[in-house]
Amino acid sequence: MSELEKSLKDKLLKREQENSLRRLTFSANLIDFTSNDYLGLARSEELFRSIQQKVNSLSHSNGATGSRLLSGNNEYTEQVEQKLAKIFKAEAAVIFNSGYAANQAVLSCIPQKGDTIIYDELIHACIRDGARLSWANRLSFRHNDFNDLESKLKKSEGNIFIAVESIYSMDGDLCNVKELTALADKFNASIILDEAHSTGIMGEQGSGLSVSLRLENKIPIRIYTFGKAMGVHGACVVGSKNLIDYLINFARPFIYTTALPPHSIASIDCAFSCLNDHGYLQNELSEKVKLFRSEANKRKLSVMNSESQIQGIVIPGNSEVKQAVEKIRTNGFDVRPILSPTVPAGTERIRVCLHTFNANHEIQSLAESLSML
Ligand SMILES: Cc1ncc(COP(=O)(O)O)c(C=O)c1O
Repeated sequence: MSELEKSLKDKLLKREQENSLRRLTFSANLIDFTSNDYLGLARSEELFRSIQQKVNSLSHSNGATGSRLLSGNNEYTEQVEQKLAKIFKAEAAVIFNSGYAANQAVLSCIPQKGDTIIYDELIHACIRDGARLSWANRLSFRHNDFNDLESKLKKSEGNIFIAVESIYSMDGDLCNVKELTALADKFNASIILDEAHSTGIMGEQGSGLSVSLRLENKIPIRIYTFGKAMGVHGACVVGSKNLIDYLINFARPFIYTTALPPHSIASIDCAFSCLNDHGYLQNELSEKVKLFRSEANKRKLSVMNSESQIQGIVIPGNSEVKQAVEKIRTNGFDVRPILSPTVPAGTERIRVCLHTFNANHEIQSLAESLSML
C-alpha cells in the first residue's frame, strides 16, 4: 500500500474505532422524518410540472456555459434575482450555486485583515470554512448566549461581523434576532444572518425570520437557501446594491464557477410562485410541530428545546444513538443519527425533521417508537 493510501486508511480506521465513520446510504420506502423538504415542495408534482413548463418556455440551453461574469449570465437570471430581492425586501440579490458557496463567499471576502468575525459556536460548517479563508480574526461565542457575545464584542478589533443562523440546523432553536440587532448597534457591528432553515418556512412568501420580524434593515447581509424548504437548489445573498456589486467583484465562489443552469433558475422561480399559491403550508407545518412536541412531552422524551420543524432527541454516545436509530428505522421511519464531532460529545441525537406531508398518525407512531427505546 502506498504512503498515501496508508494515511487515508489510518484516518478512516480511526473514525471507525470512534464509531463516527460516515457512509453514503439511501432509504427506500421509509417514512421521511429526516429530509429538509419541510413543506413537501421537493416531492410536489405540481411544482415539478410548473418547472417543466417554465423550462420549455425558455430558449433551449442545457447549461449556463460559463461563469456569470463571462457567458453564464442572462436576462432571466437577473429577473429572478429581482424577484428574490423583492421577496426578501432588499435592494438587490445575487444567486449562488449553493448555500455553502454563498456563505463561504460572504465570510471569505467581506471581513478584511484586522477585522473580527464572531460566530455562534453552533454555526454551520460553511460559515466556519469561509471565515477560515478570510484574513480576519475569528472568535466564537456560546450558543445563543448574548452575554458571552458581548464579552467577545468588547475584545474585538476593526470592523466587526456577527454570524448567526435564524434557525439552528442541529438544535432547531431560533436566534433572538431582535435582541441581537440591539447589541450589534451598540458595538457598531454588522450581522450576517444565514436564513437557510427559515427560508420558505416563515414570513410572507417564505421571506424568512428577519423579514417576518421587520428587522431586515438592521441586517446588512442575509443568506437564503433553496435546497431545503423551497425543495429545489441554490441560494442567494441579499443586501444593498453595493454589497451585491462587491460580491460580484470579489467573491471567488461566485467568480470562478459555472453558473447554475437555466432549469435550476426556473426551479427557484417556480418554487417561490408555488409557495405563494400555497401559503397555508407554513401553518400546516406549525401544526405538525405542535403535534410532535405534545406527543413527545406526553411520553416524557428528552426532546430538545425547539419550536421549529427541527427536533432533537438526545441519546448520548455515538454507538448508542446509532443503535437507537437502527431500531426506529426497523419500525419504518427514516431518521438519522447526528454524531459527535458534528455535535458536541454527550449531545449526540436523533434529528427529527417534521414535514407537512407527515400524517398525524405517523407522527404519533414515531413518538411511540422513540418512547420504546
Ligand atoms: C445553516 C446552513 N447554512 C448553509 C447550508 C448549506 O446550504 P446548501 O445545502 O444550499 O449548500 C446548510 C446546509 O445544510 C445549512 O444547514
